Amino acid sequence: MVKHFIDIADFTHTQLEAIIADAKAMKANPDAFNHVLAGKKIAMIFEKPSTRTRISFEVGIIELGGSAIILSAADMQMGHGESIADTAKVLSRFVDGIMIRANSHEMVLELAQNATIPVINALTDRSHPCQIMADIMCFEEHKGDLNGKNIAWFGDGNNVAASWIEAAPLFGFNLTIASPEQLDPNAEILQKAVAAGGNVKLERDPAKAAKDADCIITDCWVSMGDKDAANRHNLLAPYQVDERVMKLAKTDSIFMHCLPAHRDEEVVSEVIDGQQSVVFDEAENRLHVQKAILKYLFD
Ligand code: CP
Ligand code: NVA
Repeated sequence: MVKHFIDIADFTHTQLEAIIADAKAMKANPDAFNHVLAGKKIAMIFEKPSTRTRISFEVGIIELGGSAIILSAADMQMGHGESIADTAKVLSRFVDGIMIRANSHEMVLELAQNATIPVINALTDRSHPCQIMADIMCFEEHKGDLNGKNIAWFGDGNNVAASWIEAAPLFGFNLTIASPEQLDPNAEILQKAVAAGGNVKLERDPAKAAKDADCIITDCWVSMGDKDAANRHNLLAPYQVDERVMKLAKTDSIFMHCLPAHRDEEVVSEVIDGQQSVVFDEAENRLHVQKAILKYLFD
């Protein structure tokens, strides 16, 4: 069976914690892992822009002794009519693994179904599992075990929110999504998480969502591919994370954001640049946790 890394919900808590434990070991002692990908070639395909994902994966692959091939989907034949299945079969003959950032989640599933090598989801319209692994690692480093903690998501119920929702039943935290009804998270993902025992609530009132939170998280109001920017700005303005929101949370709460941030839109500068913000630790952990994901897939 080929292993893939497509969604958080595809894994058990034990598997995900083992990956995060490896990531912490790699962060503490990177040199001990520099042969994990020896001789391995990983294709990295981008249909959307990226700073953190592209650099952290490429650096991580280099640090593990492998080689990365960076590809823009628009420059490949798949951007000009070649089928996903044929692309998967051809790449499987040349490289050892595929990392893909795609517009469509269905496309990534089709790629994985037709590939004979591991496929990693590096963000789709539906989810961003690598990000949430880095976020969980970051939370644990700052606040300890997630079990029983209160996490409040502010803003668009987007791809990053969806991966947080999938993590809720696995890691046992209480997740409150503060979003306008029009931008609620994916209903199917929410229902599955609740059916799996996740304590995930939708809350329209930002003050109620922030109360007693151990961590406040937000993301951009307009994700890559979203068309209705003006409408989103109007709907999401009440969900901006400002100092008033942070004051309602626990005094030792942290602020997270997957970045890129839009200061004074989803978060004010005083919060993202303030004492409670851990956003750059969070970004750094993309490197460590993705190396651990690669180790899980290839070692
Ligand atoms: N957080 C994240 O995935 O950032 P990039 O879009 O820069 O890769
Ligand atoms: N929700 C954002 C995340 C960017 C890392 C997007 O999809 O554009």
